[in-house]
Amino acid sequence: SKITYVLPDGSESTIDVPTGQSIMDGSVRNNLPGIIAECGGSCSCATCHVILDEDSTGLFDEATDEERDLLEYLEGVQSHSRLSCQLIVNGQCDGVRVVVPDTNG
Ligand code: FES
Repeated sequence: SKITYVLPDGSESTIDVPTGQSIMDGSVRNNLPGIIAECGGSCSCATCHVILDEDSTGLFDEATDEERDLLEYLEGVQSHSRLSCQLIVNGQCDGVRVVVPDTNG
């Protein structure tokens, strides 16, 4: 699915992310700035914070307690904030946009 990343400098990059990979994977594999992913996707570092557009929130599994706990202490969190390693792309994700904040490290 084509995922558009709105990068910290305001520019946009659209990446084709295969089903089963995370939004974090798509960014890291294409060397996009802003998603650090220090822990490699095991939901423990919180350096992969993104903000989903409202229409897309229902396309992904709900945040686990573990993810919620991490988000709680993060700078710049908004109502549709997620950790992008927990956003697994599926066949309905074409056109999803995520805002990558400049606070991931
Ligand atoms: Fe570490 Fe997402 S990559 S929490």
